[in-house]
Amino acid sequence: MNLLVTGAAGFIGSAYVRMLLGPGVAGGPEIGRVTVLDRLTYAGTVDNLDLTDPRLRFVYGDICDAGLVGTLMADADQVVHFAAESHVDRSIAAAGEFVRTNVQGTQTLLDAALRHGAGPFVHVSTDEVYGSVESGSRAETDPLDPNSPYAASKAASDLIALAYHRTHGLDVRVTRCTNNYGPRQFPEKVIPLFVTNLLDGGDVPLYGDGTNRRDWLHVEDHCAGVDLVRALGRPGEIYNISGGTELTNTRLTEMLLDACGADWGRVRHVPDRKGHDRRYSIRDDKARDELGYRPRHDFERGLAETVEWYRRNRDWWEPLKRRAPAAPAGAGHAV
Ligand SMILES: NC(=O)c1ccc[n+]([C@@H]2O[C@H](COP(=O)([O-])OP(=O)(O)OC[C@H]3O[C@@H](n4cnc5c(N)ncnc54)[C@H](O)[C@@H]3O)[C@@H](O)[C@H]2O)c1
Repeated sequence: MNLLVTGAAGFIGSAYVRMLLGPGVAGGPEIGRVTVLDRLTYAGTVDNLDLTDPRLRFVYGDICDAGLVGTLMADADQVVHFAAESHVDRSIAAAGEFVRTNVQGTQTLLDAALRHGAGPFVHVSTDEVYGSVESGSRAETDPLDPNSPYAASKAASDLIALAYHRTHGLDVRVTRCTNNYGPRQFPEKVIPLFVTNLLDGGDVPLYGDGTNRRDWLHVEDHCAGVDLVRALGRPGEIYNISGGTELTNTRLTEMLLDACGADWGRVRHVPDRKGHDRRYSIRDDKARDELGYRPRHDFERGLAETVEWYRRNRDWWEPLKRRAPAAPAGAGHAV
């Protein structure tokens, strides 16, 4: 069985491919060739992939390129779609690329999957599509209410994906997860940004009053959840995937300062992000009940291991940080 995985030079997609091709794999021996399609934007690097593995084929290209996507889809049995512009602050500064990649790119892939009979097509989305959740937690049946251009572009792509199921019967499955953390996350998102700044002796930009809340999900738990949806999910269904650790940004910052041996003197308060969602929260009982999904990683241990990974892998993040396009003016941490 051949799999097309988009955006797998990035953080989550590359962890997914490592899991598929690693020992004791969730995907199991049924996985034949894995083709990665990635445009290598500032957020992607082939250093995240083991290109010596004969089961892995890396193709440099754009998910909006219908010709290339058609060629790759012709020998793909299934699709897992991670490619996206993923940084909220950048979508506030300039939304065009988010609409192009996240909406048009997804539709280009869906069209090709339909033409070539590929499926399941797992579309990886985000809890941000539900908008800010003052209390309680959102289920898959709750309405979408995205606020940032990033979240709106993901919500649009979810709806297009589901429309291909309802209209054409394509086997589309949508996942919506909470904030991922772990090794190899581009050092613009809050955990790697704060850790790498602190390891360099710098300060960290905390947005607003620090009371915004997020749920944290280890990237390996997320990948295991995505693969359960691919293998056992139902066509046309949405599955929420959470990590079960909800923290304020202030508490997270405290933990990161502690892990890096730094104190509050290193925190620089910056004006809040425009339209900053207060809280995201989802229920994932559907994935637990139907698919047996369970997050395995303890947050404190996972965070300590992540900090240690960044401490030991400067050669991975230092070049990425140097070549990253400048953060939008006034940007704080991104979650
Ligand atoms: N990181 C999180 O916490 C999080 C949370 C919820 C959902 N998600 C979703 O998970 C997916 C992966 O997120 P990530 O954190 O790994 O993102 P990332 O930014 O680390 O990686 C994105 C990858 O997509 C590639 N890409 C971008 N535009 C492309 C295009 N037009 N054609 C081909 N490749 C392109 C980039 O080169 C990069 O390798 C995204 O769809 C994102 O919306 C992420």
